[in-house]
Amino acid sequence: MPQCQEPVELFSADKLHARVRELAVEINADYAPESSLHLAAVLKGGFVFLVDLMRALARPATIDFVAMKSYGSETCSQYIPRMVKDLEEEITGRDVLVVEDIVDTGQTLSRLLEKLSERNPRSLRTVALLNKPSRRLVSLELDYVGFTIDNQFVVGYGLDYAERYRHLPYIGLLEPLPQTE
Ligand code: PRP
Repeated sequence: MPQCQEPVELFSADKLHARVRELAVEINADYAPESSLHLAAVLKGGFVFLVDLMRALARPATIDFVAMKSYGSETCSQYIPRMVKDLEEEITGRDVLVVEDIVDTGQTLSRLLEKLSERNPRSLRTVALLNKPSRRLVSLELDYVGFTIDNQFVVGYGLDYAERYRHLPYIGLLEPLPQTE
């Protein structure tokens, strides 16, 4: 069995909720009251953030899910992510806000935005709970960011290491990375 290392807390549950509420206020202010927001969460990691953000927004919003898979080599961090689960709903003419847990190299979000913009949404913006700009390999403008972090391996609040730790209510650091057997 793989060992289960205890992460070191980086952002407490209270701090995350407070920041999500601030992001919701910012987002609300940017969209006209009559516009109907469509939240597109990127699986799997984005699901916890989506739930809290949706409940913090003071407006009705529809939701949908998309999943991207990265295929790369062990030695090369460049890859072309592929969509393995598409949105269920049409987004043409809609105000779409893509909800990501973390932006690292930026390749996932960049590819996703490319594909979604081809469908001619009325607007297409992004909200990422965590941003790691030091790892960026592609140019990407994020509309809303929760926290900017260093090149650290983070888990919890939806984020995993080998599918573990997603359930944690806080975001923690794994240092050093646990051994998997
Ligand atoms: C994570 C995260 C982003 C992506 C960011 O997903 O949720 O979608 O990586 O990486 P990038 O900016 O370098 O492209 P991951 O592939 O770990 O899948 P998961 O959310 O299902 O765990």
